[in-house]
Amino acid sequence: MKAIKTIAGHQAEIQDVPLPTLRDGYIFVKVNAIALNPTDWKHIDVVAPPGTTIGCDFAGVIEQVGSNVGTEWQPGDRIAGFTHGGSEVQPEDGCAAEYCVAKAGVGMKVYKVIILFFKIPDGMLDEEACTLGVGVTTVGQGLYQSLGLPLPGAKSKANFPILIYGGSTATGSLAIQYARLSGCTEIITTCSPRHFEMVKSLGADAAFDYRDPDCVQKIKNYTKHSLGHAFDCVSTSASAKFCAAAIGPKGGAVSYLLPLKHDREDVVAKYTLAYTAMGEYFSIAGGREFGPRDEDLEFAKMFWKLSARLFANGVIRVHPPRVGKDGLEGVFAGYQAMREGQVSGQKLVYRIGDTP
Ligand SMILES: NC(=O)c1ccc[n+]([C@@H]2O[C@H](COP(=O)([O-])OP(=O)(O)OC[C@H]3O[C@@H](n4cnc5c(N)ncnc54)[C@H](OP(=O)(O)O)[C@@H]3O)[C@@H](O)[C@H]2O)c1
Repeated sequence: MKAIKTIAGHQAEIQDVPLPTLRDGYIFVKVNAIALNPTDWKHIDVVAPPGTTIGCDFAGVIEQVGSNVGTEWQPGDRIAGFTHGGSEVQPEDGCAAEYCVAKAGVGMKVYKVIILFFKIPDGMLDEEACTLGVGVTTVGQGLYQSLGLPLPGAKSKANFPILIYGGSTATGSLAIQYARLSGCTEIITTCSPRHFEMVKSLGADAAFDYRDPDCVQKIKNYTKHSLGHAFDCVSTSASAKFCAAAIGPKGGAVSYLLPLKHDREDVVAKYTLAYTAMGEYFSIAGGREFGPRDEDLEFAKMFWKLSARLFANGVIRVHPPRVGKDGLEGVFAGYQAMREGQVSGQKLVYRIGDTP
């Protein structure tokens, strides 16, 4: 099959490679569409050794079901989910390829979804479904495992405001919608002004321009200094400084997507990494070791089941996909656009069948 593989010198190329091996607890999938994530190009440029398959977000059709998977998954099921692309421990595990293997516990069947936004009873497209894998996993970890919000549908509600820093990111646009379902009293977000309308349509009560030097003060005024929770969906040293400063005088917690620190002792800094949801040991960048964390896999399975119901009911909108040309060949232009910060309020998607 064709796959995007890392090669020496922190580069990647399309190679003809053997099909990935189906392991216990995994399913074998014909990939129809993939979505790009910043982690893809970061793995090529910095993290992954040569020989790994890149790609984390896919939609496709199950061709084979491995052992110890149960009866929930059948050949022919349309599924979307999440793979550990660029893994130095399981180098075949990425999904920027014609076929991939995916952990059966972390994924979703694509239900016939009525997309309320369009008010038409149509099925969810592969190009939409493939945007969800990393995003749903990450929002589950950040908002619920890390910050402890009540789950959507729970009896208790989050009777407090929350800051979703980076509301126009693929992660942030989902996080706004989940925070709304958890009953947060106020959802405050940051993004460029051109996305204010979009983030409000997803459920944000107030949007602020993160480039405005008075932005932190405006959020403090808006929340009357009562903010205790923030989910930083950008996670740079500048965003960490921002989030910690926006938290009120009683302190609180910020959940990051990188192991960041901030300068407030009364604000707990938390950190999640989507790959731990697989519940398996892995290492990155030549030796930083993680897991295995069974509790993360169990949480992810529960959260994906819950989320699949939300998608079936048309409650959650996907981050707007922008379908690029030339399938796997076109992906390289997408990585470059991401490196250059040219992706704004959209998820880059490629159909494998479009590969020349
Ligand atoms: N730990 C994990 O498991 C995990 C999982 C997913 C993502 N991540 C990381 O989280 C980050 C976001 O990923 P993503 O895929 O959600 O992002 P994305 O959709 O690629 O992000 C694009 C958006 O980032 C916003 N942005 C860029 N620089 C910003 C800044 N300095 N302040 C505020 N917003 C800024 C832009 O907003 P405007 O257009 O509105 O200006 C743009 O819309 C990446 O660093 C990624 O590697 C980590």
